[in-house]
Amino acid sequence: MEVIIQPDAGAATTLAARMVARLLRDKPDAVLGLATGNTQLELYRELVRLHQREGLDFSGVTTFNLDEYVGLPAEDPRSYHAYMRTHLFDRVNLSDERAHLLDGTAQDVPRACAEYEAAIEAAGGIDLQILGIGVEGHIGFNEASSSLGSRTRIKTLTERTRRDNAAAFSDAELVPRHVLTMGIGTIVEARACLLLAFGEAKSQAVAAAIEGPITAMVPASVLQMHPVARFLLDEAAASALERADYFRTVWEEKPEWQREF
Ligand code: GLP
Repeated sequence: MEVIIQPDAGAATTLAARMVARLLRDKPDAVLGLATGNTQLELYRELVRLHQREGLDFSGVTTFNLDEYVGLPAEDPRSYHAYMRTHLFDRVNLSDERAHLLDGTAQDVPRACAEYEAAIEAAGGIDLQILGIGVEGHIGFNEASSSLGSRTRIKTLTERTRRDNAAAFSDAELVPRHVLTMGIGTIVEARACLLLAFGEAKSQAVAAAIEGPITAMVPASVLQMHPVARFLLDEAAASALERADYFRTVWEEKPEWQREF
């Protein structure tokens, strides 16, 4: 795992955007796995800026989002479909047919999930999976105790996660109880994973994921098994890491060309 600690969220986001841009320039038909949440807002803003100012091209790119709320149609402003349209899809030259999200209104849920898995496979798999992390260590909407081999499926949210995601809803009680999410087994099949975490509230989950045991109780800890997993943190999110100094040294001692994106 590569743990990159930046002075603040802005610097970390700039670096993350450069990593994505580098991939799209090297591989214009790249397949991106996308996450929603507050952590990614600045990343999408920066990618839009790179598209507008530097012509970063999304015309050949395919995307798959991690998750969606059950019961919310794509038009619902609180859905992750809407989040992605607002913050990225409507602002870059990505084709509609290649932007994939799970359908929160699917009647046949197992079938919709199996089709999503098949679509990822048909696209050649995910080149780079962007991830956030929940305060209890979840990735996507794979709550603690999710099987580390799980595939795309329906999950029940914890009360904590519902509370943490309440901002988009006028009342916390309105946050759906169920979601569709890529499984942990699905996520780790991506050729590379990039997890972004900012703020002190994420520090315990980050430390558990990086320095704790691999356990279903901290789904992000599965990244310890991934050959190309990067954590991009601000100082606050890194504050509970015992080996923070070591991670800083490793990054600083890398030759310049390995830090250039
Ligand atoms: C939700 C999303 C995750 C996201 C997490 C953290 O649970 N399903 O994909 O990583 O929240 O969100 P935030 O970035 O808002 O802290």
